[in-house]
Amino acid sequence: MIVVTGATGTVGRPLVALLKDRGVAVRAVARSADPGMVPGVDVHRADLARPDETALALAGADALFVHPRAVGESAAELVRIAAEKGVRRVVVLSAINVDDDPAYQPSRFNGDRNKEVEDAVVGSGLPWVAVRASSFAANAIGMFGAQARAGDVVRASYAKFAEAPIDESDLAAVIARALVDDSLDGRRIPVTGPQSVTHEEMVAVIGEVIGRPLRFEEVPAELAARGLIARGLPEPFVNALMARYERDTGKPAPVTDEVERMLDRPARSFAQWVEDHADAFQAVAS
Ligand SMILES: NC(=O)c1ccc[n+]([C@@H]2O[C@H](COP(=O)([O-])OP(=O)(O)OC[C@H]3O[C@@H](n4cnc5c(N)ncnc54)[C@H](OP(=O)(O)O)[C@@H]3O)[C@@H](O)[C@H]2O)c1
Repeated sequence: MIVVTGATGTVGRPLVALLKDRGVAVRAVARSADPGMVPGVDVHRADLARPDETALALAGADALFVHPRAVGESAAELVRIAAEKGVRRVVVLSAINVDDDPAYQPSRFNGDRNKEVEDAVVGSGLPWVAVRASSFAANAIGMFGAQARAGDVVRASYAKFAEAPIDESDLAAVIARALVDDSLDGRRIPVTGPQSVTHEEMVAVIGEVIGRPLRFEEVPAELAARGLIARGLPEPFVNALMARYERDTGKPAPVTDEVERMLDRPARSFAQWVEDHADAFQAVAS
């Protein structure tokens, strides 16, 4: 049986659905998991900051997916309990920029501890795989969704900053393979989408897919930063985000072929991801 932590999140949901579709026995773990979330899946509510709840969540598990946001500072305790409970392999989600200077890793300022969680899994003594993901394609909803729904102009900073957005369903499929394929043991695998796409190009792709002439209008970084803080994003997070944009603008994002190699098919493009999530960008009917 495979235990999936972070089961209600952006990565956990498609991972649970995929494993279930393949007939794999899954236990989906989160604090607020809805018992009926995926019919046929053992849904287990647990706070992984509490060792007693972690121990119950891991009982009977053969393999474990470690979600860094779900586990956070409890990662070392989690893998210790996993070893005690007889778990035989661990796959951890991490980030492609995990070895970068922390000042340029915005997620750290939101409390994510990808590096520490990855290190705990690597040091667990259990067979492990670390899946280091590029930027999730779903980030585009937070960045551009509200403006695209409201009109044809999308204002943001750093038009030429590029990411290689990965479709979360590809990421889930890679993790699913790593959970059962021991030839991958001991690898830190950098997984990305198939192309480097700038902010400006992402907006153009969204417009093409939804059939609207979306126009990217670049605004100065300071103005954009103030807008993000006004929307409730923490200032240290916004500062790190802007520092990263400033440092890397105009450079292509790293692209790897790991998704294609692991799934025996091309990685899904940003355009394909937008097709699947078009509702997030369609104009709101008045
Ligand atoms: N976004 C990107 O571009 C990107 C790229 C690479 C890596 N990453 C990393 O990926 C992670 C984010 O992944 P995501 O988007 O899938 O996260 P997410 O959607 O926020 O999901 C977080 C999951 O963790 C669960 N959780 C949180 N605290 C928990 C606790 N104490 N006990 C048990 N479950 C808990 C949540 O459910 P409950 O709240 O119900 O417990 C939820 O299922 C971060 O570490 C991020 O740095 C992100």
